[in-house]
Amino acid sequence: MGKGYYISRHLATAAMVLAAIALLTIIALSVVYNREKSKNAAKFTNATTSPVPPTQKTSNEPWDKYRLPDTLSPEYYNVTLWPRLVKNANGMYIFTGISGVMFTCVKKTDLILIHSNKLNLTLFKGHHAKLTGQSGVTAPAIKTTWFQMETQYLVIQLEGKLKPGKSYWLYTEFTGELADDLEGFYRSEYMEDGEKKIIAITQMQATYARKAFPCFDEPGMKAVFHITLIHDLETTALSLTNYFVFVLNERPNLCVTIFGPTKKMSTYLIAFVVSDFKYISAKDKKGVLVRIWARKKAIEDGQGNYALKITQPILEFFEKYYNTSYPLSKSDQIALPDFNSGAMENWGLVAYRETALLYDPQTSANGNKQRVVTVVSHELAHMWFGNLVTLKWWNDLWLNEGFASYVEYLGADYAEPTWDMKDQTILYDLQRAFAVDSLTSSHPLSRKEEEVNTPSEISEMFNTISYSKGAAVLKMLSEFLTEPVFAKGLSNYLKQFAFGSSVYTDLWDHLQKAVDQTPGVKLPYSVHEIMNRWILQMGFPVITIDTRTGNVSQKHFLLEPEAVVDRKSEFNYEWFVPIKWMKKQQVQDQLWLLQKSGTLNLVNKNEWVLANLHVSGYFRVNYDLGNWERLLSQLESGHQVIPVVNRAQILDDAFNLARASIINITLALRTTKYLLHERKYIPWEAALRNLNYFFQLFDRSEVYGAMQAYLKKQVKPLFEYFGNISSNWTAVPSGHTDQFTQIIALSLACSTGVEGCRELTRNWFKKWMQNPHNNVIHPNLRSTVYCNAIAAGGAEEWNFGWQMFQKATVAAEAVKLRSALACTKVPWLLNRYLEYTMNPEKIRKQDATSTIGYIASNIIGQSLAWDFVRANWDYFFKMYGTGSFSFSRLISDITYRFCTPFELSQLKRFQKDNAETGFGSGTRALQQAIEKTTAKIKWLAENKEPVHQWFLSESA
Ligand SMILES: *[C@@H]1O[C@H](CO)[C@@H](O)[C@H](O)[C@H]1NC(C)=O
Ligand SMILES: *[C@@H]1O[C@H](CO)[C@@H](O)[C@H](O)[C@H]1NC(C)=O
Ligand SMILES: *[C@@H]1O[C@H](CO)[C@@H](O)[C@H](O)[C@H]1NC(C)=O
Ligand SMILES: *[C@@H]1O[C@H](CO)[C@@H](O)[C@H](O)[C@H]1NC(C)=O
Ligand SMILES: [Zn+2]
Repeated sequence: MGKGYYISRHLATAAMVLAAIALLTIIALSVVYNREKSKNAAKFTNATTSPVPPTQKTSNEPWDKYRLPDTLSPEYYNVTLWPRLVKNANGMYIFTGISGVMFTCVKKTDLILIHSNKLNLTLFKGHHAKLTGQSGVTAPAIKTTWFQMETQYLVIQLEGKLKPGKSYWLYTEFTGELADDLEGFYRSEYMEDGEKKIIAITQMQATYARKAFPCFDEPGMKAVFHITLIHDLETTALSLTNYFVFVLNERPNLCVTIFGPTKKMSTYLIAFVVSDFKYISAKDKKGVLVRIWARKKAIEDGQGNYALKITQPILEFFEKYYNTSYPLSKSDQIALPDFNSGAMENWGLVAYRETALLYDPQTSANGNKQRVVTVVSHELAHMWFGNLVTLKWWNDLWLNEGFASYVEYLGADYAEPTWDMKDQTILYDLQRAFAVDSLTSSHPLSRKEEEVNTPSEISEMFNTISYSKGAAVLKMLSEFLTEPVFAKGLSNYLKQFAFGSSVYTDLWDHLQKAVDQTPGVKLPYSVHEIMNRWILQMGFPVITIDTRTGNVSQKHFLLEPEAVVDRKSEFNYEWFVPIKWMKKQQVQDQLWLLQKSGTLNLVNKNEWVLANLHVSGYFRVNYDLGNWERLLSQLESGHQVIPVVNRAQILDDAFNLARASIINITLALRTTKYLLHERKYIPWEAALRNLNYFFQLFDRSEVYGAMQAYLKKQVKPLFEYFGNISSNWTAVPSGHTDQFTQIIALSLACSTGVEGCRELTRNWFKKWMQNPHNNVIHPNLRSTVYCNAIAAGGAEEWNFGWQMFQKATVAAEAVKLRSALACTKVPWLLNRYLEYTMNPEKIRKQDATSTIGYIASNIIGQSLAWDFVRANWDYFFKMYGTGSFSFSRLISDITYRFCTPFELSQLKRFQKDNAETGFGSGTRALQQAIEKTTAKIKWLAENKEPVHQWFLSESA
């Protein structure tokens, strides 16, 4: 076949013989399977037909525990799988497989527990597996086997005991369904040239490897995997390592792809794919083969080129940063049409959603490109941190994900040095984490190992706190240790635990050692002691600096000032806070705030003080009024003196302190005055997010007119500036983040009615309608232009947008249109669009709830969406109510604008009326909505009038 990457010739021959045996066995297996099926015999059993476990009491038996006992340790697996990409006689897509695992007995036992879920296992003499001893040891006979559904084990009880230090081979044959459930080994379908294509792909994290083959499915149970795939001649099989392909004379239409052994690794990082995808490739300086795989058309259109271009510098960056070579000999990355998460760091075959790997210069925006570089950098960072060294259990997920979420910006910055990537962390991690971590419903980063057991408890760990707070806290740690010390500790940690697993305190130990070995780095406490306060208690402090006295104090920051914190903390919600700060243009020595309050050394009390310099710390800052005034006047007279991320953070802190009733709202509003002179992206984005919250609060009240007038005034210079530097909107600004600011300028100018803006967008859209095959609107501006044109237009514009949505072949373009269609102000169009969300032919099931969310954020759509969801509650509950993350999002989206007593009473009635059906995974979201609405009503009662007056006086 000539398309393999050859493992050694010697190995290849041996492998060929083994594969031939595997192939024959698996073919025999499927023949037997089909024959037995037709006879309806019970040779293949599933859980319900298998023998009943001997003890039925909900006991403390080992098979009732979610964690594997420490009696056995896997060495390697030999797995051969054969996915069928056509339906079988029963209309089902299936795969067959044979698998063996060599394991060592660590402690004497007569019990084998191995994970297996939804697999039909072949019976051998009445048992689901065969066991043989190695090197002369005789294995005890199997007494009985059964499935323990709840804990997803295949339980094997033996007549005698396994001997410590001895190895055994456990062999199974099985059939599984190749379902479209996005879990384990599954199938995905897409259209190409009018033809339906089917591919077989995997997603093992966190607990789905057991759905592909029986395995010890815990991250700490590392082993070597020999994977073989059998598939049709015209498809390609991919897995983690290089491969060797051959065809057997017996079955000339099939081929066998044998993959070389993996490194010692965790089951959740396994991957394999069978598809007819195409690739582009390059070799890096050290000979590592890099390939980007995708649908044929996407590769031909060059959509993989950008990912290929950035992969090499990113790998190079991480090799330097970790001071460790890339652990594998190849790096495949593949874009999948149907993928549940954004991407998955399988070790050597990273999987992505199409929007996270593919970039089409013709139709994709600058923001789409940035998403590719950050996601690729995140996943490649895991190749070392997470894959080479793996956290022993899921309770430490925050360290794995928080770490990758932090260093993704470093890798992306190396690949795209002019994009201000490092600064953007404050928007995408720090502020995001602040938003959830300031609620009483937050939780600490780190959880105890025994608190995380079931698959759903494990899935819960994948949340904003783990990713974004984890990133923000690790960034702070790296900054107060300094990057060289952090990197040194990190590299030693990787060296010690390579191919093994660790717990988070192991990293702290190595960082501490690096501190101890570096003269000049002094910490007030050990790394452990400092970090415990950030990871073992939820929340974060607001630091208050009183420049009149030099007093510095800390307090747990809560968005609702009267909220009661139920959760106890052994540290009383106090932190060891590293405060970097400056006095008028001069950076000062870092201050460690180690108690409730401390002192800052201020000589001249008339100069402004700025704390949390470069926003390296995970805390908010408040000042005495005098210092706020000095900062405001500095912003207005020369904002460049204050670092750009601090300008953004001043805005965000002020608005959130005002929402928490810590400072007067007029003070927060005044931080937006200097925006007249601001041209940078990060402060504008921070302002926009906070102003959007205001829009939603006030766009149905008399405050709105004055607010519009004020913002129109503030954004006008920005709009004109971008008109100028883009030759009247015909060229693209050269700076990367300037292109983002340009979008803000256009969207805010149009929504506040700056002269010339709406005409501009209307004309662009009209041109497109006149010539649908030639979309003249620049990809960067499409979201904004589509939304504005559809909002200003009627049925004709909407229907055109709908047609284009249905025709869109690039995923990013379809998302832009789907969200823009929700911008119309015409009620019957919105209602019809809502109806479409119940029809999967029109709006795909995975997109339904987010579409309703878009509609609910429209001022006209809000009440329509609310009525619609209530009227169809049973349907939505049935479709999305169990477990899915999008359901709680739906509830928070449709109630996001609520701020009146009437809406609160509706919300409470809704809760009562549906108490019986329940709210499933949206239960907490509903409680939060009630809590937030209550707080908003109270806040508005006190602040609406001052806000109104302020906008009136400023817009005059
Ligand atoms: C198991 O087999 C029983 C009886 O054949 C069948 O009713 C049931 O649906 C099967 N369950 C699964 C999970 O396949
Ligand atoms: C598993 O596969 C490897 C590689 O093909 C082979 O060397 C080994 O003997 C196999 N083990 C068993 C028990 O079949
Ligand atoms: C597993 O066995 C059950 C019961 O015989 C059957 O209903 C199901 O379809 C089988 N699954 C596969 C993938 O063959
Ligand atoms: C906020 O300040 C304004 C004027 O500076 C004042 O009118 C208003 O009462 C203050 N609001 C609160 C809640 O203190
Ligand atoms: Zn990750």
